[in-house]
Amino acid sequence: MRVIDDPTQLRSLALGWRRDGRVVALVPTMGALHAGHLSLVRRARLDSTHLIVSIFVNPLQFGPHDDWARYPRNLEADLALLEPEGVEVVFVPTAERMYAIGARTRVVVDEIGDVLEGARRPGHFQGVATVVQKLFNLSLPNFAYFGEKDAQQLAVLTRMARDLDTGIGIVAVPTVRESDGLALSSRNAYLSAAERSAAPCLWRALSLGARLYREHRTGDPAVLLGLMREVVEREPLAHLDYLELVDPATFSAPGPLAVGAVRIGSTRLIDNLRLDHPSGGFPPPPGARAVGRQARAG
Ligand code: PAJ
Repeated sequence: MRVIDDPTQLRSLALGWRRDGRVVALVPTMGALHAGHLSLVRRARLDSTHLIVSIFVNPLQFGPHDDWARYPRNLEADLALLEPEGVEVVFVPTAERMYAIGARTRVVVDEIGDVLEGARRPGHFQGVATVVQKLFNLSLPNFAYFGEKDAQQLAVLTRMARDLDTGIGIVAVPTVRESDGLALSSRNAYLSAAERSAAPCLWRALSLGARLYREHRTGDPAVLLGLMREVVEREPLAHLDYLELVDPATFSAPGPLAVGAVRIGSTRLIDNLRLDHPSGGFPPPPGARAVGRQARAG
């Protein structure tokens, strides 16, 4: 496992692999790695011969009041977690190396990136799309892996990859949860013990929605959302930011994907659940096939 901080070095390595017909996978992260990230890494490893994991707390996607400065960083622990996972390269650039002074270009994904998270965090998805497109250009992957946990990010990046003719396969990986349903997140580390026990209220609201939807107990989205919102409102430490039903690809309402955000103390948590799918995950898109499975064996 090589740790590289130089973008041009990464690009020439990746170029060599692609010229030799290797299958390259990219897993972009901001570090503070947990079992959710590792499930992306393991899936990516099955599909590829050469696996790149990036760790970069991207300043461009944090607003002036966001948690960029206090975002958890622990490179040593991250590298120890990645070491046994068959990763060829960990790319750990500095902000100075990623963004030349005076860089002016941004990638904007209209509409999908403007609502919900995009409306509350202006510029967030521009920052995400810009850094991910740069990572694509440096890693030249065949496939890139993103968590369903960040459903709007997944929709934005899937659309970007298609609209910009990247030819890169975007692979969605199911959300990894704690035993009480709380989605694993690097931001869970901010929670006090009392806040941690309040945190699964969003998951409980989403699960109630899925149950009512499946049992056809209510066909009216407004009634369904009202019942779901009550679950969060009953939790004194939680403040509901939004809870909506949207289309998973366009993020326009209405649709079968329940998405929500809550504030618990100074921590903001997001989660989502497909109401129309028994597992709650995202069914594969039409025409999807298992990509390059066991690529290393062949
Ligand atoms: P980060 O929050 O570190 O997440 C990296 C990837 O891990 C994302 O695709 C995210 O959806 C996925 N992930 C996080 N928690 C997960 C969980 N509990 N189960 C499954 N997957 C999970 O998302 C980002 O970083 C950044 O925006 C990035 C895409 C790297 C661009 O800077």
